[in-house]
Amino acid sequence: MPERPTGSVPERPTGSGVPTWRISPVGPLRGDVQISGSKNAVTKLMVASLLTGEPSTITNAPHLGDVDITASILRAVGAGVDLDDASGTVSVDASEITDCRIPESRLNRIPILLTGPLLHRIGEAFIPLRQAGDQIGNRPVDYHVAALRQMGAEVEYTDEGLHAKALELRGAHIRLPFPSVGATESVLLTAARAEGRTILENAAIEPEIVELALFLQRMGTRIELQPDRTFVVEGSRQLSGTRQRLGGDRIEAFSYLVAGLVTGGRVRIVGCAQDRLVTAISTLQRMGAEFAIDDDGIAAGAGPAGLRPAAVRTDPHPGFMTDWQPGLVVLCTQAKGLSVVHETVFEDRLGYVEALRAMNAEVELFDQCLVGRPCRFEESGFLHGALVRGRSRLCGTEIEMPDIRAAFAHLIAAATADGPSILHGVHHLERGYDHALEKFSSLGLEITPVGGTEGAVKP
Ligand code: UD1
Repeated sequence: MPERPTGSVPERPTGSGVPTWRISPVGPLRGDVQISGSKNAVTKLMVASLLTGEPSTITNAPHLGDVDITASILRAVGAGVDLDDASGTVSVDASEITDCRIPESRLNRIPILLTGPLLHRIGEAFIPLRQAGDQIGNRPVDYHVAALRQMGAEVEYTDEGLHAKALELRGAHIRLPFPSVGATESVLLTAARAEGRTILENAAIEPEIVELALFLQRMGTRIELQPDRTFVVEGSRQLSGTRQRLGGDRIEAFSYLVAGLVTGGRVRIVGCAQDRLVTAISTLQRMGAEFAIDDDGIAAGAGPAGLRPAAVRTDPHPGFMTDWQPGLVVLCTQAKGLSVVHETVFEDRLGYVEALRAMNAEVELFDQCLVGRPCRFEESGFLHGALVRGRSRLCGTEIEMPDIRAAFAHLIAAATADGPSILHGVHHLERGYDHALEKFSSLGLEITPVGGTEGAVKP
């Protein structure tokens, strides 16, 4: 039985448990990496489990900080959550929901997704809303709120956060201004139990959203995805508990493929389906990566001519994913010639570049839309384009890692540098990368976890 809440919110230790790593580059990284279940799906399925009083189970679950944070949030509203690392199973028992207040969480953007489920279960939700999640732009929740209001919720902002109430939620015809992942999930989670039909146009259709839709379908929601980014959902108040195995994490998979390529090695990823990586694979192929793909795994290594530069625009799925962008930029520093990257999903997702520059990378940022058609940030003044001149001989340095994806980029930059680096803020990495220390070590990278002051820089 899932562990029932006891008032306080216990957390299990995740990852190496130290804030700083010393990275000693050892040359090309080679080997197989088992990819974990998807981070961006597991937390959403956990939230969906609140829609019913019957227990649900998620398997192939990764061991990550974000899972712990989500478990804490679910426990705080009264659900029982059991995390079994040995079997990779998360069990949620939401037979009782006792509280509508989500505790303050600066670490991820899950709380807003609980609004719909809490409104269905107890008619009220309080979501603390400060800047939460990674440091990649404002990350507003206006689409979520507009959709909740359309579905009949009364939503007010206070100094502390968002307060929502609803006696009954009903289906609505909603069109998102942009295919936001979070807002799509909010609508699906709310529509699943709402009275009547919801039509959601311009929805995000990321594989992790499809995983959520499949979970809701197994719970008893009637849900269909039409070819033009439209979800149609018939809500049902009679949802049952279910069980689902998570698909492989395509962000983790891409990251390790790039870790091999950037160090001149060859990494084979196991446990992430090829169809989640189509755009990633074709982009890396254009850069000169050679792939070996079969039913068991996907391997990538640089071809004999080395890496070529890239011209890439990030986009909602099925475009090139924004979470792949930092790793791509590091790879571009090792490709001979001028690469161009245009970030169109988040306005401020290139801040990590400063640390790469300190390592000798030649990267210039622009507020213009550099590749493909102009994006929403065209006149915004945000630095959302990058020109990268390669190849650079990166040198080791000391870095404060600001968020999950930047952290992985800094780690692989450090892995290919001349000389050791000190990386602070390892918890960001461990929020999103399951057993990163063990996986990198198995590829040959020398990582030494160090305490706060032991990690002093040696220039
Ligand atoms: C999710 C992923 C993140 C990924 C991102 C885009 C999780 C936990 N995180 O983040 O890894 O990088 O999708 O694939 O799954 N926006 C608004 N108003 C809103 C909501 C969003 O303006 O109410 C804007 C955002 O500021 C951003 C864009 O929409 O510019 C995309 O955001 P969104 O897709 O919602 O990202 P997240 O769900 O936060």
